Amino acid sequence: MITRPSKTYIVGNWKMNQSKFDIDAFFKALSQELLAASKETLPPNLFETTEAWIAPQFVHLHQLYVDISLWSTSSPFVGQMKMKYGAQNSSHKEKGAFTGDVSARALAESGCHFVIVGHSERRAFFKESPEILREKVEMAFAQNLKVIFCIGETLEEREQGKAVEVVLNQLTQSIKGLDQSKCHEQLIFAYEPVWAIGTGRTATPEQAQEMHAHIRKILSDELALEGATMPILYGGSVTPDNVHELLRQQDINGALVGGASLKGADYAKLYLAAKVKIG
Ligand code: PGA
Repeated sequence: MITRPSKTYIVGNWKMNQSKFDIDAFFKALSQELLAASKETLPPNLFETTEAWIAPQFVHLHQLYVDISLWSTSSPFVGQMKMKYGAQNSSHKEKGAFTGDVSARALAESGCHFVIVGHSERRAFFKESPEILREKVEMAFAQNLKVIFCIGETLEEREQGKAVEVVLNQLTQSIKGLDQSKCHEQLIFAYEPVWAIGTGRTATPEQAQEMHAHIRKILSDELALEGATMPILYGGSVTPDNVHELLRQQDINGALVGGASLKGADYAKLYLAAKVKIG
């Protein structure tokens, strides 16, 4: 019997945004919005089945730790979310003379639960190659961090009918042949079409579902992984308005959200939308 991923992941990728002040405001608004929402009936298992993850800038990791602890005590709803934090990037090297880099080990020691690897902005602006990304995944695996591995095609590639081929290559080059049990335990994929990131132009739920189904098949047929059981998130201009329809798709197990995750009230709405996955 095929066991589908049982959790829904709402991951906020804050990129190079959010001041310390903004982060405090985020938690206040998050708590208020959850309190307001609790007046309606929420599915009893929403909090157990929905993961709330945030990736701030490196220097704000400790503030996330402090704020999550404080707000989890003062707001029962924030407490129920059991929010986790992680990093947007990590080094492909274990340690040594790599000025400005941050190791997977330092992230694990800082309480990170996960790291995002292969975001299209890292691939495009920082020229991260498939080989480097593979090493980053291995470093993160060694530290027992979860890895959100991003894949996705550009507009040009989609228009040329090459979207599936691009995604297949990205997966083959960076993931194929890695330790299978670590892949099953620690890998989460994020399909993020480059043309949908930060553009306000999201993939339709049907386009996203179609690609997610392809990804599962590639994982099973080409990478010898249990594609059906692995979480695949969608990312690219997800908002509180379009998240419900995206999450309703069978093969979408959550969302990786940039712009719309910056405000606490919006993040709460994204999180609560995971109720469409229940029942
Ligand atoms: P966006 O970013 O939601 O602002 O489009 C998504 C991402 O880059 O992960």
